[in-house]
Amino acid sequence: MHKILVTGATGNVGKHLVSSLAAAGFAVRALVRDPAGATLPDGVEAVRGDLSDPSTLGPALRGVESVYLMWPGIPVEPRTVEAVAGAARHVVYLSTDVTDLAEGEQATWYHQEIERLLRKSGTDWTFLRAIDFATNALAWAGQIREGVVSWPYGQAARSLIHERDIADVAAHVLTTPGHHGARYLITGPEAVTHAEQVRIIGEETGREVRWEELPPETARERLTAAWGNAEFVDGRLRAWASFAETPERVTDTVEQLLGRPARTFRSWARDHADDFRQ
Ligand SMILES: NC(=O)c1ccc[n+]([C@@H]2O[C@H](COP(=O)([O-])OP(=O)(O)OC[C@H]3O[C@@H](n4cnc5c(N)ncnc54)[C@H](OP(=O)(O)O)[C@@H]3O)[C@@H](O)[C@H]2O)c1
Repeated sequence: MHKILVTGATGNVGKHLVSSLAAAGFAVRALVRDPAGATLPDGVEAVRGDLSDPSTLGPALRGVESVYLMWPGIPVEPRTVEAVAGAARHVVYLSTDVTDLAEGEQATWYHQEIERLLRKSGTDWTFLRAIDFATNALAWAGQIREGVVSWPYGQAARSLIHERDIADVAAHVLTTPGHHGARYLITGPEAVTHAEQVRIIGEETGREVRWEELPPETARERLTAAWGNAEFVDGRLRAWASFAETPERVTDTVEQLLGRPARTFRSWARDHADDFRQ
């Protein structure tokens, strides 16, 4: 039977992907660093492996036909990408909008490098270039609980995507033919401003939450202290400033592929209401 290896199977996207593939009856193997500690759905085979060390990947790659590859925030290991591409007929890679990386966004440079390695590998590949995940809004959870979100660029309009939609697109691309060489830019169904996102989260969690516009310079100081990477923060601030001028683009790729619209930010907030309440 067509065996599918899912990397990042305990992560935001991977956990939904393994569930839906297993529920649909596919043979699913999860690459995890700690099989005993990983929570996976019934029927999913957990195999130990570490993407930073290609010598650990043999058992996970044995007999697989396709691979969902995500890259955690570690240095690129070309031999891992070569091993994955060498073992599988089709690799579906979770990338980002690499065509539109703001200067200074080195934190995601590895996507360009992995795309390059897969393009030259000779195996079939598909890139899922996801716009930022709605899960990034969980960074506001503490402020939501306190009733005030202090953040810059309230008018920045983002087309954030629900992680379940990425998983649904990945499942579709892994299990249907005709996706080799596709670079799918996947977004949410509409652009929603930061301030509107906060209002929606407040409504879905049943909490009073106020937006407090933070001047960019203050945000720069606070976010650099919190995230520890001034270049990344500057890249984010530039991107948000641009989305306050021109809303982030919205594609209908999810709908084209799945035959139904992408989930809204409100539905994401409803699905995660408990995460903001705890
Ligand atoms: N957040 C965004 O807005 C956004 C937008 C576009 C693209 N992306 C990309 O999406 C990817 C993250 O996806 P996600 O959010 O679904 O994942 P995630 O929730 O960040 O989960 C990380 C996963 O990586 C696994 N992992 C970590 N280090 C590993 C290693 N050395 N070897 C093997 N597995 C390892 C973990 O597995 P175990 O701990 O179980 O081993 C876990 O399942 C990143 O490449 C990111 O750049 C993110």
